[in-house]
Amino acid sequence: MSFKEKIDTHRLPKHIAVIMDGNGRWAKQQGKNRIFGHTNGVRAVRETAEACAELGVQYLTVYAFSTENWNRPEMEVNALMALLVNTIDGELKTLTKNDIRLGVIGDVDSLPASVAKQLRNAIEKTAHCKRMQLTLALSYSGKAEIVRAMKQIALKVQSGEIGLHEITDDLIHRNLYTYGMPDPELLIRTSGEQRLSNFLLWQLAYAEFYFTEVFWPDFDREELYKAVYTYQNRERRFGKTSEQLHS
Ligand code: FPP
Repeated sequence: MSFKEKIDTHRLPKHIAVIMDGNGRWAKQQGKNRIFGHTNGVRAVRETAEACAELGVQYLTVYAFSTENWNRPEMEVNALMALLVNTIDGELKTLTKNDIRLGVIGDVDSLPASVAKQLRNAIEKTAHCKRMQLTLALSYSGKAEIVRAMKQIALKVQSGEIGLHEITDDLIHRNLYTYGMPDPELLIRTSGEQRLSNFLLWQLAYAEFYFTEVFWPDFDREELYKAVYTYQNRERRFGKTSEQLHS
């Protein structure tokens, strides 16, 4: 029996975040170079996005490139950027057909002009899509996102536009890249690593974490269903006791 049939579609996470990890190790296992792993990772992104949209998940955010990834060998960075341009271009029709809106979080200005241009084009062309938002975290750092938000807020305090008492959770949320999206209820990380790696530090405060040994290129629909099913079997207490939840 597929995990899909066990999922309660009335209790889906609205937003799933994914740290796609293990492309390099997957490729190495096959005696191939790391780029081969990234290329095969694209299929997993497609399949996960389609499965989420079909289930009724409203937001899917994938960590495609961190600010720290700029420190990888130049050849790998260039190959990843080329892969992004080709993928965005190649998937545009499928995204529109599936009614999926593309979004981006991160320092887009630091990306090569060709990538930024393709992204802006795809975001504009899919802006009307309603079924799900697929957000790519690109040149993204959770700490940098919070620093950016703090600076924006500090400027408003400095100019007298707002007072200190107006700095709230909600104001911080409104100054993050993810403004307008609900916080992810579920974070998936592949490849056996169990850390956040500077991903959505503020937004994941109450998320359930799901770690799997599967390398990203092997992640498929069934793996996604399994993660959602596991999430649905967790007790989310938000600081309360189990008894309080069930009374
Ligand atoms: C982590 O694996 C993966 C990345 C840093 C890049 C993710 C990119 C893709 C899946 C392809 C393109 C994506 C989109 C959205 C079009 P790793 O290289 O750190 O693997 P390792 O830990 O085994 O070395």
